Amino acid sequence: MEQNNTIAHNIDKLITDRKSIRAFIERAIEPALIAELFEAARWSFSSSNEQPWRYVYATAAQVEWYQTLLNCLMDMNKDWVQKAPLLIACIAKKTMAKDGNLNPKALHDLGAANMLLALQATSLGMQAHPMGGYHNDKAREALQLPEDCEVVAFMAVGYPGNDDHLKDYQKEQEHTRSKRMDQTEFVFNKPFGS
Ligand SMILES: Cc1cc2nc3c(=O)[nH]c(=O)nc-3n(C[C@H](O)[C@H](O)[C@H](O)COP(=O)(O)O)c2cc1C
Repeated sequence: MEQNNTIAHNIDKLITDRKSIRAFIERAIEPALIAELFEAARWSFSSSNEQPWRYVYATAAQVEWYQTLLNCLMDMNKDWVQKAPLLIACIAKKTMAKDGNLNPKALHDLGAANMLLALQATSLGMQAHPMGGYHNDKAREALQLPEDCEVVAFMAVGYPGNDDHLKDYQKEQEHTRSKRMDQTEFVFNKPFGS
């Protein structure tokens, strides 16, 4: 599979400016801007309008609470995240409010809301970096999650800064764009397997 990092068609700059950075500066995010991030998520689409996203966050100023969330991360993420001023646990409510049945689209809808949050961060001059590298059991306990909720990702959010604390391979990633499949690999105008 040939992948490249050229932008092949004309898309909105906000989309191309979004990037999962690791070099954050230790600059606090104003509460009003934190509210804007979650407001963006609030306006996402969702199956049956169930809005199954839930967020638990900590700011770096909440030293102990921030450490509690940070401790849920795997070491490979802990190393660089500690400079991020905002850490968010992204949680899916797996059952429907309307009848208690399983919501098969909960992960889809949380992901969509997360992307809106990330784009809002980009539009405010910040970046949001999602992470799957966390300890699920630790996170469940630290966040005191109810049975029908699941942590699906964490996000580190903040303003871009210097990369002194990063490992060499991370520095390199910081200055390049991740590669992407060509559209021919994932867009089909005919039956999928033909
Ligand atoms: C669900 C999910 C889990 C991820 N987990 C990690 C992670 O644990 N650590 C990390 O450094 N990046 C993680 N990433 C970031 C991806 O590596 C990144 O989104 C991908 O390389 C594309 O780069 P871009 O977001 O800069 O476009 C994750 C992204 C997603 C959506």
